Amino acid sequence: MSFPLTVILGLETSCDETAAAVVVNGRLVRANVVASQHALHERYHGVVPEIASRAHLERLAPVVRQALEEAGVTFDDLDAVAVGNRPGLIGSLLVGVSAAQALSWITGKPLIGIDHVQAHLYAPNLLTQPAPADASARREPPPAMAYPALGLVVSGGHTSLYTMRSATQMTRLGKTIDDAVGEAFDKAAVILGLGYPGGPAIDRAAQHGDPEAHQLPMSLLDRDSLDFSFSGLKTALLYTVRGRPKGRGKQAVFERTGEELTQQQRCDLAAAFQRTVVETVIVKLERALERLRERGEAPRSLVIGGGVAANSLLRRRVAELGEAQGLSVRIPAIEYCLDNGAMIAGLAHAYHAWGASDTLDLPAIATTAV
Ligand code: KG4
Ligand code: ZN
Repeated sequence: MSFPLTVILGLETSCDETAAAVVVNGRLVRANVVASQHALHERYHGVVPEIASRAHLERLAPVVRQALEEAGVTFDDLDAVAVGNRPGLIGSLLVGVSAAQALSWITGKPLIGIDHVQAHLYAPNLLTQPAPADASARREPPPAMAYPALGLVVSGGHTSLYTMRSATQMTRLGKTIDDAVGEAFDKAAVILGLGYPGGPAIDRAAQHGDPEAHQLPMSLLDRDSLDFSFSGLKTALLYTVRGRPKGRGKQAVFERTGEELTQQQRCDLAAAFQRTVVETVIVKLERALERLRERGEAPRSLVIGGGVAANSLLRRRVAELGEAQGLSVRIPAIEYCLDNGAMIAGLAHAYHAWGASDTLDLPAIATTAV
């Protein structure tokens, strides 16, 4: 008996990546095209919303065309058009949502709106099709995720913990009360003069640094709290680099500029910062596991998603935690940690299989639903 294949096109434009992907049966990625806008935002040390939405407008059509070509499919072969319609920068979201609405209307294929945060937690299920000549490719694909799961989203806009009953049903256990973890990495890189985006720059610099050379404060909030806070750590790093300021706000005058840091000092501070962030996240994961076990809701897997899940130390420490606690750890391949259309198309399969779709007036919404 053979089963029909379900082919879904996924669009992602919530922030500064213009992305489209074609995914078969919710797991097999046939094409994953991402046009990054980093070069456009670099000089501002962050994403400028107006520039981002304009760039999405210019890039989305060629990106979609390339994804279909690489996947070897046409619009006729699609079973649905999915789009990340929340959360994100509203102007950026609108570009993707309008394009998906138009494609759905023209082709008559169902339209499926996807929550970007939920999609990050779906990403570990994605599989890249091995090249036909790749003899080392496994004949058995890794199994899909086992639920219930403890899920952590760590990205430029989000830092949240969830208990997940399925890919589409989750309850938030905690979130950041100030900066998102990726935002903290990006700001720390500006303080250290390491460039943009900051996460990968700090990750690279930290490889050459000594994390013990500086002690930065770890903010764990109340003893039982599953929320996160990174603004105190960022300020501590700023004062370590530039000294205590005289005056407040824009009038603040620092003792040093930070430009006189040696390359080794930059690497040591990057390593100390990264270690402090990662250990904070590990403590929160341990607390969440303990809490869920006490409630009789012990998870079977530990799932990490979002751009910061690309961090080499976090990946290593989460794998160690999973091993120590007997949990199956699911961390996406790096290309599926960063914003992409494959996670949107993949998660849309779960909704499509269940017969759910949206109407053509699907809204773009700045906030997450989970
Ligand atoms: O998920 P994502 O691509 O976009 C949002 O949904 O926000 O995450 C982007 C964030 C940026 O803050 C970037 O600095 C961070 O992920 N990031 C990293 C690494 N690679 C990307 N942070 C730490 N280490 C990395 N290797
Ligand atoms: Zn994201």
